[in-house]
Amino acid sequence: MKLLIAGNWKMFKTRAEAAATVTSLVNSLSALPEQREVVIFAPFTVLSTCAEILAKVPGISLGGQNCYPAVWGAFTGEVSPAMLKDSGCDYVLTGHSERRMLLGETDAFVGEKTAFALSQGIKAVLCVGEQLEERNNGKLQDVLVRQLAAGLADVPDNTSAAELSVAYEPVWAIGTGRVAGPVEITQAHAVVRDYLAMRFPLQGKDIRILYGGSVKPDNAKEIISLDNVNGVLVGGASLQAESFSPIALA
Ligand code: PGA
Repeated sequence: MKLLIAGNWKMFKTRAEAAATVTSLVNSLSALPEQREVVIFAPFTVLSTCAEILAKVPGISLGGQNCYPAVWGAFTGEVSPAMLKDSGCDYVLTGHSERRMLLGETDAFVGEKTAFALSQGIKAVLCVGEQLEERNNGKLQDVLVRQLAAGLADVPDNTSAAELSVAYEPVWAIGTGRVAGPVEITQAHAVVRDYLAMRFPLQGKDIRILYGGSVKPDNAKEIISLDNVNGVLVGGASLQAESFSPIALA
């Protein structure tokens, strides 16, 4: 299984800034090991710019941060999986906590997007994670299982492990500098792995589970070495090649 090192640029970067960052990433990751795969989840407006630079670069691909579950139509402000593909994307993020919390995306809507994106030939990274209050109230497992059940409800049973990944991102660790500890990460990833193994008996053990939340060059190696951690989803530290490349190579 290749480790998936994902960068989430959120709502940052003009086209010129994106081009500069992707160009330095390509240079600094020229020795990316065969067993690692890098994906950049970039804003829609810079996807084509990044795609041109990445066109002939093996090992680094592009993803959208969101999509709408329809082929086309009157959905102002939205983007379809086909449009993402047309802009050079292989991947899409679904259910990031910022979209769940700031834009009111429900578990069921996240599930619709995930299944639809897969049906259109885009690889999905479904994000799940608990809020601090939920964790403090002993609800970690309930929240993760609820988000996984709804997020994967319509995903076909024979979906291959290469097409689907899950990112565990505790909301309290995102953008806060407060990384989850090894015990917390291992515990949550075991919940996700058990669910995947139950939901997809054949391939569940091979579906990649990424950790996200304040991953930095100085903690990436330890996080990646934990049980059931098959990659990382990096926000702030993915914005500069100087901090993202060491994570990709950690
Ligand atoms: P962070 O963001 O690395 O800045 O905490 C992670 C994410 O939101 O995917």
